[in-house]
Amino acid sequence: MLAVEGVSVAFGGVRALDGVSFEVGEGLVCGVIGPNGAGKTTLFDVVSGLRRPDEGLVRMAGRDLTGVSPLRRARAGLRRTFQRTQVFGRLTVADNVLAALDWHGGGGGLAADLAGLPSRRRLERERRERVAEVLELCGLTPLRDAYAAALPVGRRRLVELARALADRPRLLLLDEPTSGLDAGQTDRLGEVIRALDTTVLLVEHDMGFVMGTCDRIVVLDLGKVIATGSPAEIREDPVVRAAYLG
Ligand SMILES: Nc1ncnc2c1ncn2[C@@H]1O[C@H](COP(=O)(O)OP(=O)(O)OP(=O)(O)O)[C@@H](O)[C@H]1O
Ligand SMILES: [Mg+2]
Repeated sequence: MLAVEGVSVAFGGVRALDGVSFEVGEGLVCGVIGPNGAGKTTLFDVVSGLRRPDEGLVRMAGRDLTGVSPLRRARAGLRRTFQRTQVFGRLTVADNVLAALDWHGGGGGLAADLAGLPSRRRLERERRERVAEVLELCGLTPLRDAYAAALPVGRRRLVELARALADRPRLLLLDEPTSGLDAGQTDRLGEVIRALDTTVLLVEHDMGFVMGTCDRIVVLDLGKVIATGSPAEIREDPVVRAAYLG
């Protein structure tokens, strides 16, 4: 589903990514770990199209994404969440998710709205059902009418996840999804991610979460991939232990 091929990004003298290559098979959950400044967020920026690599390319389902805008990547089924949460504070939790569904329109647009066409009403019903489904999945049903701005950061993170899941992405990027979550919410998040059909690439510092949630792990250090493998392989890898796990 995702192939990163020889990607390099430099900021002045800093090589944030240096010839990074790896693949993620369809439906798998892949974790990216590494110390602060390893290049994890930069990698996400490249995959989601916010930053163009100096070298290398990214493919999604075989398609070269070089030169494809973030919006068109999103249309192709790619979603991401951010290290700092981004939700609509002045909308309710339910409306945040609804807005994530509404962005590509459909159902005949404004004219259909005004005429109250049956096709439009059916679409609205389907959307409300999908919102309810996603809120339930993320444990947000009791908070559906709360304003997002009033929520603690852990809950806002779940709202952001719900928004990203709303229209069933093919490839989901999660940047530090457990930060701000308590132990119970972290476990729940792991279960939600495991239950998805979606291919997931996630950056995370919580090793217990990474080991328990991911099928594969890519270890970055100073912009280079120093190891890839299953959680068990990564735990035993001498290079990783020396460089990172200590
Ligand atoms: N916009 C930028 N301008 C200059 N240097 C940058 C920029 N973004 C990142 N860097 C540098 O590139 C390197 C990789 O940064 P990046 O944010 O990708 O790391 P990270 O693995 O996400 O770190 P963290 O775990 O702290 O989130 C770091 O040395 C960082 O200082
Ligand atoms: Mg980062």
